[in-house]
Amino acid sequence: MTVPKLALSENSESALSKTRAEVLVVGTIEGTDGPELAPGSEVADAAFDGKLAEVLTTVGAGGKAEEIVKLPTLGKIGAGVVLAVGLGKADADGKVTAEQVRRASGAAARALAGTDRVFTTLSAIDLQAAVEGTALGAYVFTEYRSEPGAAPVAKVDLASPAEGTVKDHRATLKAATAIAESVIIARDLINTPPNDLYPASFAERAKKLAEENGLEFEVLDEKALKRKGFGGILGVGVGSARQPRLLRIGYKPAKASKKIALVGKGITFDSGGISIKPAAGMDHMTSDMSGAAGVLASVVLAAKLKYPLEVVAHIPLAENLPSGTSYRPGDVLSMYGGKTVEVLNTDAEGRLVLADAIVRAGEENPDYLIETSTLTGAQVVALGNRTAGIMGTDEFRDRVAGIARATGEGGWAMPLPDELRAELDSRLADLANVTGNRWGGMLAAGVFLREFVAEGLTWVHIDIAGPSFNTGGPWGYTGKGGTGIPVRTIAAVLADIADNG
Ligand code: BES
Ligand code: MN
Ligand code: ZN
Repeated sequence: MTVPKLALSENSESALSKTRAEVLVVGTIEGTDGPELAPGSEVADAAFDGKLAEVLTTVGAGGKAEEIVKLPTLGKIGAGVVLAVGLGKADADGKVTAEQVRRASGAAARALAGTDRVFTTLSAIDLQAAVEGTALGAYVFTEYRSEPGAAPVAKVDLASPAEGTVKDHRATLKAATAIAESVIIARDLINTPPNDLYPASFAERAKKLAEENGLEFEVLDEKALKRKGFGGILGVGVGSARQPRLLRIGYKPAKASKKIALVGKGITFDSGGISIKPAAGMDHMTSDMSGAAGVLASVVLAAKLKYPLEVVAHIPLAENLPSGTSYRPGDVLSMYGGKTVEVLNTDAEGRLVLADAIVRAGEENPDYLIETSTLTGAQVVALGNRTAGIMGTDEFRDRVAGIARATGEGGWAMPLPDELRAELDSRLADLANVTGNRWGGMLAAGVFLREFVAEGLTWVHIDIAGPSFNTGGPWGYTGKGGTGIPVRTIAAVLADIADNG
């Protein structure tokens, strides 16, 4: 899927008429005595003789987040319909957050499916948030439907914010569009079913993206993995007829102030293997490559936005299936770099493929390592479906968690308690892949990964088991299926490192 065609416009009646937009989108704020019009709604208000808020109250609107009301303008202005979308409550200074604008824009875009051209004024409040919310809210994945249904809104004119220069706004529009496009790259990969997206086909799609964006690309197939000793990736992947891969995709600008390694879990389907999962909900494991999709999309974005950073994505890809060639509980794997791991549960496969990739990433001496994965059901138990668990080096972990919340993707810092390391002791190998109990399962997985992070390397682990895939109904700018989390967080962390080191 691609984003709608997006263009900046002056926020006036004549500019609106010229666009021939069918619908004019305005924001409403939940006030104490009914809805209030958000900044930028002047043209719509004029169409109702300055009584738009009153009319909205009459039809029962309150300005609650994501509330949608459509009103006919009866020819008073260029657009035949005003769509008022709720932003929710403003803060004490009357301001709404970027995330409120993003969600309202997404809800409006969803409600406008089937419309060709719309004009939004939410961009007058926050241009970047309106672009992201509109493009992501409009996203649908119809690749596998014979009848695609209502087409997403095709063209969106965005009212320019009152402050700032046209040049600044153009740059913001361009960057925000690139960010949304990258989130969509991730969503498309996640939403592609596992019969079509397997290690080799993921590698092909990554290669195409790398070529289109001038990135370094390298793929190790099963023979190369064997030769080089990637025992974790091979152990997990050998049970499937679709053999594993390890990708390295690099963006290297002429001047780079820092080098960032990205690692993303790429289990194209996780049945659990011999330690097989229950049937109910197993289809959800089509999304077990969300980390891989996220880091691939992020390195593409780094190139599009020309960050002054070297960014290298390492992507281990495998399918976890039970078969006569599968690895088994009781096996000992010899991992890349030489450590040995006793497999007590073949369903704790993510940490095994990640360990190999983390060691390989560490060999290149990056300044930072950002790893993300749909790693544990325990993440969902602890933090739910919308808050990623963020672990790693204390300071960097807190920095990334703060940025994750600022982007609206959400995340919370979690500890890596040292005592859990002893619980990973193995009877015969250097460590086991699971502890003997369920307690702190998200943290135990993080402690396992820490064993493979190069000495002294600043790193973060983002567990997105819940947030990566929306099994519920659509909300804000998030439809069903792949969400593209944590692409916007990684993008914002890269921008922060570029600015502040
Ligand atoms: N891919 C799963 C984790 C997962 C669960 C992701 C739910 C998204 C939603 C992972 O490979 C897994 O199976 N983890 C096990 C670990 C356990 C065996 C220690 C789990 O969480 O049950
Ligand atoms: Mn698993
Ligand atoms: Zn998994």
